[in-house]
Amino acid sequence: MVGGADAEQGQAAGQHRPGDLNRLDARIWSRTVDRNEDGVATVGGLDVTRLAEEFGTPAYILDEDDFRARCRAWADAFGPGADVFYAGKAFLSRAVVRWLHEEGLNLDVCSGGELLTALDAGMPADRIAFHGNNKSLEEIERAVRAGVGRIVLDSFQEIARVAHVAQGLGVRQRVLIRITVGVEAHTHEFIATAHEDQKFGLPLAGGQAAEGVRRALGLDGLELIGLHSHIGSQIFDTSGFEVAAHRVVGLLQQVRDEHGVELPEIDLGGGLGIAYTPDDDPREPRHIAKALHEIVTRECENAGLRPPRISVEPGRAIVGPTAFTLYEVGTIKPLPGLRTYVSVDGGMSDNIRTALYDAEYSVSLVSRVSDAAPMLSRVVGKHCESGDIVVKDAFLPADLAPGDLLAVPATGAYCRSMASNYNHALRPPVVAVRDGAARVIVRRETEEDLLRLDVG
Ligand code: LLP
Repeated sequence: MVGGADAEQGQAAGQHRPGDLNRLDARIWSRTVDRNEDGVATVGGLDVTRLAEEFGTPAYILDEDDFRARCRAWADAFGPGADVFYAGKAFLSRAVVRWLHEEGLNLDVCSGGELLTALDAGMPADRIAFHGNNKSLEEIERAVRAGVGRIVLDSFQEIARVAHVAQGLGVRQRVLIRITVGVEAHTHEFIATAHEDQKFGLPLAGGQAAEGVRRALGLDGLELIGLHSHIGSQIFDTSGFEVAAHRVVGLLQQVRDEHGVELPEIDLGGGLGIAYTPDDDPREPRHIAKALHEIVTRECENAGLRPPRISVEPGRAIVGPTAFTLYEVGTIKPLPGLRTYVSVDGGMSDNIRTALYDAEYSVSLVSRVSDAAPMLSRVVGKHCESGDIVVKDAFLPADLAPGDLLAVPATGAYCRSMASNYNHALRPPVVAVRDGAARVIVRRETEEDLLRLDVG
């Protein structure tokens, strides 16, 4: 293999520096990840070779202590005067729901399936927020009957529909209205949501948001408790949130002036970025909490409003860093002068983010350490598609061989939840580790699962 030459080429192309390939950088690996004296990576006290033997590969390995610690960090940062709703779309399972409940977090769901999982695992309904731009009548009925704490309304039709369902069931449903505040979030176009030309929310500009408030206040089935804004995802810069907070408070003021009503809550959504590579530098929850509290308090003082209760909806920032995907190396194909293609036993079916958002990931050899030269590599999957890339640019040791284990960190968010059966792949399990014990919280799909859906 042409490790040294490839490494130089990578540097010349301005790609990642090889660095120490054996080091598992704490900025991108979950809290309990380490290497043992044999050089094998460990998590929660368990070595990855044992995990691979017991649970197979590919597998998502989730560090439960890290997950719980992140829940507490968010809850502590915002304090008792605010609410943290974990965004279940990032990754949801019944075990996760129980952890959230135990750690005192609330839950944001955006489909009937997520709501079902939450209720089934015992999340109290009043701690659930229900989202979505096209909730079906069945979903709305299920949510209202269950007594969810809040429904976030996304259109004029939905305002009328939820009011109708609630009235029919003889309840007043607590609701927020999602507004689009016109902020251009600096993130991938597909995960930016506060500019006006997209499907979510009622735009502030042109008065639709104000009209939504007017309608909701006039309907008996609804108790309008506040306004909601989510500007996008994988955002590092707090200024977008500050502009959003400023504009949401502006509408609160308008509502007070027009209707004499001070809405008691604002929800500023999720979207805080995480480190996928050592180059990413995310903000801590306490920085976000401080910035948001300050801006909302200041804006409210200026407007003569009582500061509303704030809620936030982090998904990625809680679960993203807590898991890595464990793969086994298969085919290795050096392309002299270009790079080496390293195929693993998963791919775009367990991590679509690289193909869909051009996302960057890191990768390390975890079943051993190596002193071999760095080799410019591309980690690819086993799907019939050349865009099936897991890690675009990475340095791996030039003595990499079939059977070695690779791990891609920071795959806890939007990997299992967006996994597919493309090429009839079996979706990998999620294995939770804690204090030297591992347990499957979502099992691997089986061939029987595949055939069961195909009714012939
Ligand atoms: N609240 C609302 C209303 C949302 O729409 C979202 C994400 C969140 C909270 C949580 O955002 P987070 O803190 O996780 O960034 N599949 C994409 C991300 C889509 C996010 C959709 N909404 C990805 O893999 O990057």
